[in-house]
Amino acid sequence: MLKGKTIVLGVSGGIAAYKAVELLRLLVKGGAEVHVVMTKGATEFVTPLTFQTLSGNPVHTELFNLITEQEIGHISLADRADLFIIAPATANVIGKIAGGIADDLLTTTVMATKAPVLLAPAMNVNMYENPLYRENEEKLRRHGYLFAEPVSGFLACGWEGKGKMQEPALVMEAAVAALTVQDLAGVTVMVTAGPTREEVDPVRFVSNHSSGKMGYALARAAWRRGAKVVLVSGPTALPPPFGVKFVAVESAREMRDRVLESSGECDVIIKAAAVADYRPRERAGDKLKKVGDEMVVTLVKNPDILRELGAAKRPGQLLVGFAAETVDLEKNATVKLREKNLDMIVANDVSAPGAGFGVDTNIVRLLYRDGTKEELPLLAKEEVASAILDRIVALRAGSD
Ligand code: PMT
Repeated sequence: MLKGKTIVLGVSGGIAAYKAVELLRLLVKGGAEVHVVMTKGATEFVTPLTFQTLSGNPVHTELFNLITEQEIGHISLADRADLFIIAPATANVIGKIAGGIADDLLTTTVMATKAPVLLAPAMNVNMYENPLYRENEEKLRRHGYLFAEPVSGFLACGWEGKGKMQEPALVMEAAVAALTVQDLAGVTVMVTAGPTREEVDPVRFVSNHSSGKMGYALARAAWRRGAKVVLVSGPTALPPPFGVKFVAVESAREMRDRVLESSGECDVIIKAAAVADYRPRERAGDKLKKVGDEMVVTLVKNPDILRELGAAKRPGQLLVGFAAETVDLEKNATVKLREKNLDMIVANDVSAPGAGFGVDTNIVRLLYRDGTKEELPLLAKEEVASAILDRIVALRAGSD
């Protein structure tokens, strides 16, 4: 995700400095080259050696250090950064940056950089709510500084409230977004994901093997590209991706209602969910008893959500469906593309190894309304998601 990127990680002096260690580990794992700059206060909480060992690079603490200035001075660090992260960012550091003060290595390097700067504030709730701090944050936001909002909880100082540094995994998400081209900024994207569950009785249901991985990858990728994302998901074991509006549903009918509630506001709708085509005609109020050698459950048709969306599609709205097939992939997907009035359909042969349900990869063919098609090789679902969004951006540009 961060391969080829150089990140300067600034650590300022707060108890949350320990979280910067985990963030560094995630950044390095993501492929980034990371250079750490610590304030004097930060070194009181975590030793530079910890950051040095995990980053594989010398840690910078002094503004005027002849050796490191010669090897990689603060201006060079500022120039080389693709992204500057300060985590934790104390009220003091944020105040200094907002005030144009550069009196140590960290604030001097930030002032000298042209890279995007992402701040992960961490402070006492009263400091966070202090009008002077609020003004500083507002000012920095106006100037394009990015913030990984702190969260509420018990603070190290004994108070409870907003001010805890955001979890490292989520600061990492914000970092990836900051380094991603925002070609979906201003676009509202709805993604559906996962299976639906159609209850037979209080303990049993009819469903399928969808894990939600494909849909969640799409939602995450769309958010990183700047879209406002609504993810309508059937039951899965996955945590909701950061930043998206998450709508949890169980049955196809529930998914239909929730999708139609906000579909009118969406510019792009991607239906990756594996919706059950049928549901039991009746849901027994009590657990069905074991009687006889056979049991017949009568199924009735569920609403076809995608077909309804296709019928109600407004000008400029893009509708993308998926087709899960085991035979006649292209033929069946083409019928769905036409009958459901789609702009594009992502056809996957779910019987092919490495494709379809549950796995981390997929093999898809993209079929378009104008009859053109393209075949993608075996890719990670993250990569498939990114390819689908590339095509969506191109289709939107073509329809302007
Ligand atoms: O979740 P994963 O484990 O990552 O697996 C990914 C996936 C295999 C679920 C995904 O790649 C996929 O193929 N999703 C679509 C599955 C499906 O229901 O395909 P379908 O051919 O039955 O339906 C065609 C389209 O109509 C789909 O966009 C589906 O969301 C939609 N549909 C289907 C039935 C219905 N009643 N309402 C619908 O909206």
